[in-house]
Order: sequence, then C-alpha cells, then structure tokens
Amino acid sequence: MNSPGCVVAVTGASSGIGFAAARAFSREGAQLAVAARRRDRLDALVKEIEVSRGKALAVEADVSVEADVHRFVDETVTMYGRIDVMINNAGLGIRGRVEETPPADFERLMKTNFMGTVYGCQAALKHMRVRNEGVILNVSSIVGHRALPGGSAYGASKAAQISLTEALRVELQGTGILVMSVHPIATQTEFSAVALKESGGRTGAPVGPVQTAEQVAEAMVRAVRRPRPEVHPYPMARGLVALNAIFPSLVDRWAGRARKS
Ligand SMILES: NC(=O)c1ccc[n+]([C@@H]2O[C@H](COP(=O)([O-])OP(=O)(O)OC[C@H]3O[C@@H](n4cnc5c(N)ncnc54)[C@H](OP(=O)(O)O)[C@@H]3O)[C@@H](O)[C@H]2O)c1
Repeated sequence: MNSPGCVVAVTGASSGIGFAAARAFSREGAQLAVAARRRDRLDALVKEIEVSRGKALAVEADVSVEADVHRFVDETVTMYGRIDVMINNAGLGIRGRVEETPPADFERLMKTNFMGTVYGCQAALKHMRVRNEGVILNVSSIVGHRALPGGSAYGASKAAQISLTEALRVELQGTGILVMSVHPIATQTEFSAVALKESGGRTGAPVGPVQTAEQVAEAMVRAVRRPRPEVHPYPMARGLVALNAIFPSLVDRWAGRARKS
C-alpha cells in the first residue's frame, strides 16, 4: 500500500480536505483519481499533478447519485487496473437547531454525507474484493462522536458514517481490506462558507481549535502507512471522545456554554 504508484481515489477533491489529500498522496508517488461536481476545479488539480510528473484522472460526479459514484470508481479501475485506496470525503454541512431545520435538510445531508459514503464503500469493494486488498478511509468528523447544538443534521450524518465504518471494518476482518474513519476538528476550508449559504440564515459556527486541510491530509497519508481504526488529525480530540463517553453531562455543559459565548 505504500509503494509508489498505488492508486488512490478521492471524492470531494475540488476543494478543502479532498484537494489537500489528492496533493499529499500525489507527492507520495500515488496515482490519483479525483471526483466532485465542479469539473473546472478538478481539471486544474489534474493539471497541477501532471506538471509535477504525477498521474491523475478527473471524473465529474455527484456522490448522492449511486451511479455517479460507481462510474467514478469503475473509470479509475479502467485507467489504472486497480484501486488501492478509496477516500470517501465529499460532504457538506447545514446548520440549525433541531426544531428549525427542515426535514429536507436532514435528508440532503444523509444523502450526500452518509449515502455518498455507502456508495463509495460498495463501489470500491466490488473491485478490492477481487484481490482482497485495499484501504477505505471515510472522512467523518469529531462531531460524529459528539454533536453540538445547531449541528444536529450534520452531526447525525457524520455519526452514521462512523457506524457504517465500524460495522464494515469488522465484516472485513481476516481480509486484506482495512477500513478507517477520519475525525477532523474544525478545518480551514470552504466548508463554513458553504454551510452559511446552505443554512438559510440559521447559525451555529464551529467552536474550539482549528486545523488546516493539509494537516488532515498528512494524517491520512500516515494512516495509510500505519493503519488504525480511527484517525484523529488533531490528537487531543481523542480526549473529547473519551470524556464524552464517561461524562456526557459535563460535555453538555461545556458545549452549551461554548455555543453561547
Ligand atoms: N471543514 C471542517 O471543519 C470539517 C471538519 C470535520 C469534517 N469535515 C468533513 O470533511 C469533508 C470535506 O469537507 P471540507 O472541509 O474540505 O469542505 P469543502 O472545502 O467545502 O469541500 C467539500 C468537497 O465536497 C464536494 N462535494 C460536496 N457535495 C458533493 C456532492 N453531492 N457530490 C460530489 N462532491 C461533493 C465539494 O465539491 P463540489 O462542490 O465541486 O461537488 C468539495 O470538493 C466533508 O465530509 C466534511 O464533512 C470538515
């Protein structure tokens, strides 16, 4: 999996974490396949990778459409002959308290963030199962472990990704296919601007420390080298997960205060 030329497919590579991940894996010598809806952004990324003597394939795809995701992975395998690493990263946030968030927004986040990941896992497994080899990274979020007020729809979609990943990881025990979930904290990307636009004026800005997309991407590269069930690009976030498991009411109080300040 660490050999140069390993084939890495990334969804949501037109910006932010996916973009940084494509660049980081390419620097490691991987051959890339990248997907998103904004074709111009993907083409620019492919050009950049090719200028630095890398190899990349761009596929315009909407991850909420099952056929698009299968087409992306199938085209990857047609071009490179295999897929070694699948990164299900495409996603968005929509903010709002439970009572004010339209059901359609809950559905949209589940369709993109969760079903997009389901489609990506199934599409990759179809090919990885042939050799029983591969790595799947599902980009969830720290809020998949502990949701915050104003982020219920998003947090639920990210928690669903974690459940999917946990079950799949155990289902594949004994094969050479490894499945990990990635839990970034607030990350400097276009995520907040998109969330603001999609939330119809409803608020709920992220709280706590902030990291860069490059830090998340480097953590993913390290995880492919040394696999582990859960990837925390901001290591201290593990503390929040543990604290929430033992003292959820304490985290409730902190989260309530942080949101008001
Ligand atoms: N930024 C954070 O604070 C943060 C924290 C924790 C986890 N995450 C997770 O990290 C992942 C990447 O987010 P980001 O922070 O890098 O945000 P971003 O800069 O807004 O990037 C989101 C990416 O997802 C793609 N995307 C969105 N909807 C899509 C769809 N229906 N089909 C295909 N592609 C789609 C976008 O491409 P197009 O618009 O071109 O399709 C874009 O490439 C998401 O899953 C997010 O939940 C982010």
